[in-house]
Amino acid sequence: MQIIRSTAQMRAAVRVARDRGASVGLVPTMGAFHAGHLSLMRQARGETNLVVVSLFVNPTQFGPNEDLAAYPRDEQRDAGLAAEAGVDILFAPPVDQIYPDGFATTVHVSGITDVLCGATRPGHFDGVATVVAKLFGIVTPDVAYFGQKDAQQVLVVRRMARDLDMPVRIQACPIVREDDGLAMSSRNAYLDATARTRATALRRALVAAETALAAGHTRATEVIAAARAVLDDAGIEPEYLELRSPDDLAPLDEITGTALLAVAARVGAARLIDNTILEVR
Ligand code: PAJ
Repeated sequence: MQIIRSTAQMRAAVRVARDRGASVGLVPTMGAFHAGHLSLMRQARGETNLVVVSLFVNPTQFGPNEDLAAYPRDEQRDAGLAAEAGVDILFAPPVDQIYPDGFATTVHVSGITDVLCGATRPGHFDGVATVVAKLFGIVTPDVAYFGQKDAQQVLVVRRMARDLDMPVRIQACPIVREDDGLAMSSRNAYLDATARTRATALRRALVAAETALAAGHTRATEVIAAARAVLDDAGIEPEYLELRSPDDLAPLDEITGTALLAVAARVGAARLIDNTILEVR
């Protein structure tokens, strides 16, 4: 596996591969790899010829009171894991390669960024859309892989790619979980033992909602109440717990087809998110 730090070298490597007729897969990440990241890399390995993983802790998507400085970083370990997953190139640029002096452009996707995580993390999705647009410009992937764990992020990236005619397919990949159901996240490292146990309530709450729906409760108030009860039991006050359209994040009062149930909560020192797609058959 090659490690590349400059955008010029990254472009050159893609050009060589393309001249050989290779398709290009990109997995954008901020590092601190866990099985969720690795599943994206393996899917890219199975579907594209040149697999590029970007490792860049993007400062513009962190708010002033968020965890940019504390964000876990261990490039050596990450490089080893990526190589094992069959990655061809780890693109790990320094900040000034991505945001050189005088950088003045922001990509803003409106509407769907006003709700859920966008409501409590102002500017977060501008930072995500801008860096992902840049990565698409540098790597020019045929397919880009994103985790459904960040369901709103997938929608934002899809909307951006469509609106700006970016020639890339956005592939959403399933949420990878710990044995007890907790969605894998680099931020799980912030949980102490007590918080780690309480954190399982997020997934259990989503399962309670699925169970309520299976029992015929299709109203938003009913499925949310079922989930809420589990969070209450664990002493967790959610930042949001909402039922929305999986296509455009419009609020839903009733589940008729598919619905996204999304939750965010502070548990101990971590802010955690999780979601499930509910479906009436
Ligand atoms: P990061 O949090 O490092 O996540 C990188 C990718 O891994 C994202 O697409 C995320 O959805 C996916 N992922 C994280 N946990 C997962 C899990 N448990 N199961 C499946 N996939 C999972 O998301 C970002 O970085 C950044 O916002 C980024 C897109 C790189 C832009 O800076």
